[in-house]
Amino acid sequence: MNFISDNANGADPRILDALTKANSGAVLSYGGDPGTARLQARFGALFGRAVTSFPVVSGTAANALALATLTPPHGLIFCHARSHIMMAECGAVEFHSHGARLVGVEGENCKIDARALAAAIDAVPRNFAHSMQPATVTLSQSTELGTVYAPAEVRAIADICHARGLKLHMDGARFANALAYLDVAPAQASWECGVDVLSFGASKGGALAAEAVIFFDAPDASDFMYRRKKAGHLISKMRFVSAQLEAYVEDGLWLGNAAHANAMAAQLAQGLKNAPDVRLTAPVQTNMVFADIPTALAMRLREGGAIFHDWGSTGKDRVTIRLVTSFATPQTDVAKVIELAGG
Ligand SMILES: Cc1ncc(COP(=O)(O)O)c(C=O)c1O
Repeated sequence: MNFISDNANGADPRILDALTKANSGAVLSYGGDPGTARLQARFGALFGRAVTSFPVVSGTAANALALATLTPPHGLIFCHARSHIMMAECGAVEFHSHGARLVGVEGENCKIDARALAAAIDAVPRNFAHSMQPATVTLSQSTELGTVYAPAEVRAIADICHARGLKLHMDGARFANALAYLDVAPAQASWECGVDVLSFGASKGGALAAEAVIFFDAPDASDFMYRRKKAGHLISKMRFVSAQLEAYVEDGLWLGNAAHANAMAAQLAQGLKNAPDVRLTAPVQTNMVFADIPTALAMRLREGGAIFHDWGSTGKDRVTIRLVTSFATPQTDVAKVIELAGG
């Protein structure tokens, strides 16, 4: 019963099959293969406009290289104060951008508050050699709490960015989960509401190791290929990364997997809500459940075989736990946790 993270499970067998298919014959290396070209066209069809896409093998690389491409060394990148990029990427953005700085902005449920964002940007002196300059905003969709920005909320943030000459990046490590929740087309949750560049995640949704950086305006991508190579992310056997992504978006595999993960979290949330002395601490919109429970119950869940992270504490004898579901979470595991909790 593993609820540690959505990358704790292996890969979707359909993606493994695609890798076996991609294994035959010799093709051009470093992304010159037909599958990588096909992928770019497929992303174009998926998003309803021409895109410039680059496969990479980790979400951290996708975020750091995308943001470094958009941001000069003297640039400021605004993000949520508790976003993954701020808390858990070991300064990769600062490293790859040669010194750009992350600025944390508050907002409920891990979503950037638009007014706080505008105030933070406007507080920076412009055209002043002593101050780093606002360049980029990045938001996570879905967020690190599993919450989702409505397209209108993304549009509000994009308008703030664009009115001030900043670009908007979206960390879509869990873009599929957000889309499954919103039930809108990929375009509606990205470029149509003002996103300039998307880190399109696949590893958490069933790939082995594959993400793509998707630029919606080709000029923004102009030096990405050099940055990717310099960072060691231009994989020579790129056909295997592209094959994972192609299979991921084919026939709705990605959205089907995300819908399953979301449904498992919804069931878990419903069951835990009915359990004695359990309080959900964030809205459950995608594949994460945060619950404030007695430490004795956390121990009982672990003794019963559940694996999960603690996520802080709200007081003596209480702990907040994080349960993450995935494309591979069996319904029986969800039922067992609910039973152990007395829900
Ligand atoms: C929101 C978010 N963005 C980016 C990443 C980074 O992905 P990776 O672990 O592949 O570098 C993660 C991983 O947990 C994540 O949760």
